[in-house]
Amino acid sequence: MNDFTLHLTTKIVFGRDAESKIGEEAARYGKKVLLHYGGGSIKRSGLYDSVKDSLAKSGLEVFELAGVKPNPRLSLVREGIELCRKEGIDLILAVGGGSVIDSAKAIGIGVPAKCDVWDFYLGKACPEKMMPVGVVLTIPAAGSECSNGSVITNEDGDYKRAVDNQIMRPSFAIMNPERTYTLPPYQTACGITDMMAHIMERYFTNVDHVDLTDRLCEATLRTIINNAPIVLRDPENYDARAEIMWSGTIAHNGLLDTGRIGDWGSHNIEHEISGIYDVAHGAGLAVVFPAWMKYVYHHDVARFVQFAVRVFDVDLAFGRPEEIAEEGIRRLEQFFTSIGMPITLPQLGVDDSRLGEMADKALVGCEYQGHFVPLYRDDVYNILKIAMG
Ligand code: NZQ
Ligand code: ZN
Repeated sequence: MNDFTLHLTTKIVFGRDAESKIGEEAARYGKKVLLHYGGGSIKRSGLYDSVKDSLAKSGLEVFELAGVKPNPRLSLVREGIELCRKEGIDLILAVGGGSVIDSAKAIGIGVPAKCDVWDFYLGKACPEKMMPVGVVLTIPAAGSECSNGSVITNEDGDYKRAVDNQIMRPSFAIMNPERTYTLPPYQTACGITDMMAHIMERYFTNVDHVDLTDRLCEATLRTIINNAPIVLRDPENYDARAEIMWSGTIAHNGLLDTGRIGDWGSHNIEHEISGIYDVAHGAGLAVVFPAWMKYVYHHDVARFVQFAVRVFDVDLAFGRPEEIAEEGIRRLEQFFTSIGMPITLPQLGVDDSRLGEMADKALVGCEYQGHFVPLYRDDVYNILKIAMG
């Protein structure tokens, strides 16, 4: 196990009554709140009114910036930075999913910055401060409600890039599983896939003696796999929605990668797909992750056997280690298919005309992608070829 520092700084308020705390939590940071949200789902569900009421009861002045798109855009971030500076905003309240939260974090690091905010995403500068960001989570998926990262798409060139920093964890996250009842099945499944990918990125490591985090990863994956069919069949099942919601946070708040080095190749390859084709991140991962697994499993067959046996109950008597490993990957694909996810690029609506461009872009600014097995340009291309099915 490697040495590590873990400093989780987000206050989590979880449960049916969580929303009653919005105003009280927001008021700790000042008087002026920027309410940041997406394309309107919060208005249709009534959450918008509840949030506004709660903020008004706490005597807060509310400014609004709506219109965050899935795969959030840099242009709206720039608008938010200007608005916060002009109005002297004290807190950005992100009401939505990963896209809204990431946009809020980008505004939050952009406001106090001396450089252009995109420099942080290009790795040219390191954010030193973030304005307070609060979250009301409506979709369990990206884990951004507690994570230290933000992912933004620059429309100029369709580059989707991430920045990670300890200062980028939100100050608080309000999480009521009932607020996820209105999610369409496809979005529910995309979220489920994304949180599983966050765990699997960490699971496939070269670090030895990580038994505890291996077992925590396996338990979280099994929890998600068991509860996924329930929420798809019965969207208002509180208990199953709660299990999924909490799993999404645990998957990506940093606990599961303590003492180990995760891979992240699949995520970075997926960002090239959603950056160009504007597909849902989770759906892109359902395609890339199994393709990556098929390409790299020979590197550590024993770890893939452990995954197959402990997560998907493949019998050790199933066959040779390679066959058990392959069966684990097949069951993962079957699971994705069972929840309505694509497992090939054509199913995602992506043809083979820009595979080379995506492979080139994935290597811009870095020598290789991934840690479990370093992936060079041709490796990324080969994985995308496998993903064609
Ligand atoms: O915009 P609205 O109208 O709100 O609709 C959203 C959006 O269309 C809808 N939605 C959200 N909650 C809903 C709902 N519809 C009905 N009922 C509800 N309760 O769902 C759609 C998708 O929302 P989005 O925020 O894009 O989803 P998600 O949370 O999956 O976020 C995806 C983004 O997060 C990034 C991804 O790359 C992608 O850009 N990621 C961020 C990470 C981080 N910051 O740590 C890590 C992840 O790996 C990921 O890369
Ligand atoms: Zn992700």
